[in-house]
Amino acid sequence: MPATTLDQLVSLCKRRGFVFPSSEIYGGLQGVFDWGPLGVELKNNIISSWWRTNVYERDDMEGLDAAILMNRLTWRYSGHEETFNDPLVDCRDCKSRWRADHIKGRCPNCGSTNLTEPRPFNMMFKTTVGPVADADSFAYLRPETAQGIFVNFGNVLATSSRKLPFGVAQVGKAFRNEINPRNFLFRVREFEQMEIEYFVMPGTEDEWHQRWLEDRLAWWESIGIPRTRIKIYDVPPNELAHYSKRTFDLMYDYPTLGYEEVEGIASRTDYDLGSHSRDQETLNLTARANPNRDSNARLTYYDPESRRHIVPFVIEPSAGVGRCFLAVLAEAYDEQMVKAPPAERVSTVTDALEAFLKSVGRNEKLAPETRDTLIERGQAILAGLPETMPQIETLLAMPGADQVEAGKKLRGQVQGLIDEYFRTVLHLKPHLAPIRVAVFPLKRNHEGLVAMARELRKAIQSGSFFRTVYDDTGAIGKLYRRQDEIGTPYCVTVDFQSLEDGTVTVRDRDTMQQVRIPASEVRAYVAGRG
Ligand code: GAP
Repeated sequence: MPATTLDQLVSLCKRRGFVFPSSEIYGGLQGVFDWGPLGVELKNNIISSWWRTNVYERDDMEGLDAAILMNRLTWRYSGHEETFNDPLVDCRDCKSRWRADHIKGRCPNCGSTNLTEPRPFNMMFKTTVGPVADADSFAYLRPETAQGIFVNFGNVLATSSRKLPFGVAQVGKAFRNEINPRNFLFRVREFEQMEIEYFVMPGTEDEWHQRWLEDRLAWWESIGIPRTRIKIYDVPPNELAHYSKRTFDLMYDYPTLGYEEVEGIASRTDYDLGSHSRDQETLNLTARANPNRDSNARLTYYDPESRRHIVPFVIEPSAGVGRCFLAVLAEAYDEQMVKAPPAERVSTVTDALEAFLKSVGRNEKLAPETRDTLIERGQAILAGLPETMPQIETLLAMPGADQVEAGKKLRGQVQGLIDEYFRTVLHLKPHLAPIRVAVFPLKRNHEGLVAMARELRKAIQSGSFFRTVYDDTGAIGKLYRRQDEIGTPYCVTVDFQSLEDGTVTVRDRDTMQQVRIPASEVRAYVAGRG
């Protein structure tokens, strides 16, 4: 079963080093996160899969890596200076600030409805370039990677000799000064985008829009997100971004959040290339482009058939890496009962959880929302016991739980049981797993086993594009659990038989079945299944 709450994922990410709050030792920075050792591997694998599918496996794509800092005029003519705004309101009572469309007229902090009128807040971060900070030196951190592709359209066309239709792919950082960053990686201020600008003949854009929708859904499926878990939202005209004629948002069913956008596929017409071009009056633009007196180029394509210079239309599939990461984790996440715990021990946990919830209800020090959240979550766990037992750990890590005395007893009741009867497992597609293979010696103080396991790790890793690790920091059962929890598809154990006949066991993460094969075949075995 996929994750049921965002907290399960937050807790896993922290526990196992996927994601850390940025500059945590100084209290962090709101809406900014760092990728830990496992997070960076999973994130890189997601990006590689996206790049492979969209650049290498097609014959109509090029790649690009444009700078984050761009001439400020880019953002004037893209329309962002004028329109990249969110509606900001202040609470007059508690002085907090909110995005008006997220709060339904009531301050989430103090409940007051005494709010200011919404006013536009531009989300672009500003900085200065060079030693003098004045009006001429200021620049923006890009709020989307797309503009780097548009302003380089002429360069790519001239150097690649592409014919329409063709596209340019780019992965990189984007920055938005979100009014209220929230929900872990979902809405942050610094994030990465995987964007494609696909240039087509005017008049063919609707057909390409549909084709890209299908192609993108197929990719989501290839990374473990079935179509049934994505809804397509055909964005109504009054919600479209300033550049879009039509947009399909792919909405993933996130735990806790419900259906939210993970990717947008926009039909951007000739708005962008037109807005960044000079001599616009000669270009027969269909979009209401921004009048441009500064650009030194016409971003056009010479069509040999009609012998005319035309401004291509654009289809833009744009996905956030963090939101993709969260969807992949949510979908892969599973808490499995490996064997049923004895009834009497389950009832002890039931009693301890009931006592905990009662004491949460009585606790005057907790804020009412914290109390309600803990009780609501706890009751859902109570109703699903024993299967939901591992979620008690997440419950105890939630804000406020540490202030409830009965939590200690509950923790004591469940900890051993969870280790013995449950496992958390990430059913990640092997090509995404941070670690593809973990190699263990059956005994860590046996020289022969250790030497063979270390050699085998090296042999599997050599020339592979996936990661292989050696581990001897616990008993085999514990090592399996630890690798299951981070999604390692194969665990290889070197045992005494290995020393005699050169074979090892390979354990499959999902079935927990083991096969015995020659050590020399492990590399081909795991590579062939990824
Ligand atoms: N170039 C088009 C564009 O930027 P967008 O819908 O604003 O369109 C595209 O952003 C994707 O970037 C979104 O679907 C989402 O996955 C991701 N994204 C946008 N804002 C984000 C934020 N504050 N935090 C995390 N991801 C974000």
